[in-house]
Amino acid sequence: MILTDVKLFNFRNYKKLEFKPSNKITVFYGKNGSGKTNLLEAVHFCCLGRSQRTHQDRDMMMKNQSYTSAQLKTMRIDGRHDIELKLKNIGGKTVKTAHVFGKKCERISDMIGHASCVLFAPEDMIIIKGGPQERRRFMDMQISQMRCRYLNELSAYNKVLKYRNIMLKDSYIKRIDEKQMEAWEEILTDAGASVVNQRKWFLEYLNEVAAPIYKNISGKNSENFTLEYSGQLKDCDDPHCIMQKHLKENREIDIRRGSTTFGPHKDDIDFKLNGFSMKEYASQGQIRTAVLSLKLAMIDIIWKEMGDKPILLLDDVFSELDPRRREALLEYVGDVQTFITCTDLSDVANAKADSYIRVENTADGAVINIEKIGENQ
Ligand SMILES: Nc1ncnc2c1ncn2[C@@H]1O[C@H](COP(=O)(O)OP(=O)(O)OP(=O)(O)O)[C@@H](O)[C@H]1O
Ligand SMILES: [Mg+2]
Repeated sequence: MILTDVKLFNFRNYKKLEFKPSNKITVFYGKNGSGKTNLLEAVHFCCLGRSQRTHQDRDMMMKNQSYTSAQLKTMRIDGRHDIELKLKNIGGKTVKTAHVFGKKCERISDMIGHASCVLFAPEDMIIIKGGPQERRRFMDMQISQMRCRYLNELSAYNKVLKYRNIMLKDSYIKRIDEKQMEAWEEILTDAGASVVNQRKWFLEYLNEVAAPIYKNISGKNSENFTLEYSGQLKDCDDPHCIMQKHLKENREIDIRRGSTTFGPHKDDIDFKLNGFSMKEYASQGQIRTAVLSLKLAMIDIIWKEMGDKPILLLDDVFSELDPRRREALLEYVGDVQTFITCTDLSDVANAKADSYIRVENTADGAVINIEKIGENQ
């Protein structure tokens, strides 16, 4: 897939921006706080419907503005695509809408599949080092990008989980309506089982692709990187049946706790190195290699699943990688359209970029200047 046009309006510190990126490697460089990550965030937002760094869509709206838009035009194997995401402040609430070829989508998930990306940033170490919610966020974002059905089922699950928890908490004040509770549990079971099945499918796939990439990058045959689904529904072939049973059986405990104690909202991923949990056992460098392997594996997986290679967004990662890992990364980049951000051009000297774009934060917001066209252009 090739990103041919980017258009932003009131996005973070960009008042207005329009540009046509190079087909291969583009480097965005500039001082800290100039707006480099904001550009990658806009691309990520249009590919996945959400930011990689905030849960609040309103954070992406330029301060004191009530309307924001991010638009991408892409060329995929099946032709041209045009995606636009709009954020509007309506009565203090941020309303998000997606538009494909100028036509408003019924649901945000309808925009999935028109553009796809893999983003790698230093903060991604949190996938292994952070809590289970970070790992769930990681797998949810990756699967949603390939399956819009997953995004719908996950939203349904989270919505009904919230309702069930409210009912459990309210049970001290008013008696639980059994019929209503059973109806919620039915939806929770259907959506939850499907979410678990898709997470298991994805993690098995990711393990298969990422493990050999890890060996290749580390150059150590003795280091075995593995990952697998870890959750209450791990060792069961029929998550639907088990979930139904546990929701019913746990109802008394859930009432006492005021929350649902069983289900995919407790899922996790087990990352291991030579059979030991990476979080406790692995070094910083090994964790970095593992995360890099996950990201590179995603390029292959999205390619196979969607029929097109995604765009690669590398946010400030070169300065943190040693020469071996830099080389490995550049080798995998191959013919993938790539956007790299850095503050120091010497960090990306080996990248053989096609264009170098300087990003600057001015009194009127961020501006970009195409400063140099590389030899490959
Ligand atoms: N909602 C917003 N409205 C206006 N400006 C914003 C908004 N959110 C962030 N900014 C501005 O965007 C800039 C940060 O942009 P960004 O994170 O892209 O910087 P960067 O170039 O990646 O910096 P670094 O090299 O430190 O990573 C800051 O100047 C910040 O004040
Ligand atoms: Mg940045």
